[in-house]
Amino acid sequence: MRLLFENWRKFITEQDDPNATVRFDPEPGPPMEAPWGASSVAELNKWLKENENITLLRYLGKGAYGKVYEVAMPDGRRSAMKIVNKRMGGAQADREAANYEWIQENKDSLPEEVAEYLPDIYHIINDVPLEGDYHLLIFMEYMEPAPTEVTHQFLATGGRGQVYATKQKEARLLKDANAVSSMVKDVMSRAQPYLSQIDSNIDTSSLATRVTGPFLRGLNVSYPEEMKRIDYMAYESDDISDERRRLLNSIARVLHDTFKDYEGYDSWYVGMGMQEMAEYLNILIARQVMPIRHREPSQSVLGGGSEEVQEVFPEMEGLTAAMEYLYGQNFEPSDIHGGNIMMRPTTGHLVITDVGHFTSHRKAEREAQETMDV
Ligand SMILES: Nc1ncnc2c1ncn2[C@@H]1O[C@H](COP(=O)(O)OP(=O)(O)O)[C@@H](O)[C@H]1O
Ligand SMILES: [Mg+2]
Repeated sequence: MRLLFENWRKFITEQDDPNATVRFDPEPGPPMEAPWGASSVAELNKWLKENENITLLRYLGKGAYGKVYEVAMPDGRRSAMKIVNKRMGGAQADREAANYEWIQENKDSLPEEVAEYLPDIYHIINDVPLEGDYHLLIFMEYMEPAPTEVTHQFLATGGRGQVYATKQKEARLLKDANAVSSMVKDVMSRAQPYLSQIDSNIDTSSLATRVTGPFLRGLNVSYPEEMKRIDYMAYESDDISDERRRLLNSIARVLHDTFKDYEGYDSWYVGMGMQEMAEYLNILIARQVMPIRHREPSQSVLGGGSEEVQEVFPEMEGLTAAMEYLYGQNFEPSDIHGGNIMMRPTTGHLVITDVGHFTSHRKAEREAQETMDV
């Protein structure tokens, strides 16, 4: 099993978006940990007190660019404060400022069912001098971590965290007819290069339909020799659910029955195909269901599950609809992963707390650039 998960990690670190932070999704630190030296925290505290009458309460967490503290606003209201070093953050710091400003300006005019997925932004200060650098401060609604057994079923976790929810997630996926059918089709198309060595006219999608029906009816087929290669990869490990093993077995059985009477049939090709399919099935089951970048196609590294797979998780429908709305407002959701979605403590509602990588402004900049080029 190790081998397969290593492959999955490789898959996520190979993602091509240099702005996505999913791979940096940090381990949560001890609550009082100060990511700077004690003197910097003292300096920050002093500046906040003297200039804004705001009190630093505790350290909450950090991402790739920002550090977040809990603070008390002048009226006593508890707030989260994100601080970004503008020199460190570079262009990203400007994007952070612009994106949180977008929420500050637009949240009130958004439909309720969209607005509730965004935090309230109380205050933004753009140029706080600390330790010889300028810093961006964003004061926003205080959130709590979302329950991972819910969010880790459908959000990207950067490899870590799948362990929490993968069992429930897999069980749901392998029970759903449409999801199974779509995954089997995707998985079998991966074996095309091997299978076409046996029969150059092979149509993997019609083979896939022969797998899905019997699998969903619970049929337990005998174990063909083509499964052996997967066993070699420790596929007998307990990490693999019985249902997943049964699904792979059903695929191997259909392939075996299809090809066994071909003249000079060499089971090596199907064995290799099975290995490829087992790895890809692992990716389809383990990877994010919700795209990391909204509207990214499911084949892309930043994409999510197929439409059929997404439909197995109705709990993400509202969030997806809200993101679609924001996309239409040219505020394009990006970097959607487990570290960036939290929970409003008063209602238990999911909230996108990190909008720093939303791309509207990149797009606007691009368009402005294009206009200038004309
Ligand atoms: N509104 C908030 N309330 C409470 N904690 C927060 C809030 N926003 C962020 N955090 C904490 O800080 C961490 C980093 O914030 P994030 O905005 O993701 O930073 P980055 O832009 O560097 O990725 C989060 O993973 C979370 O633990
Ligand atoms: Mg983040």
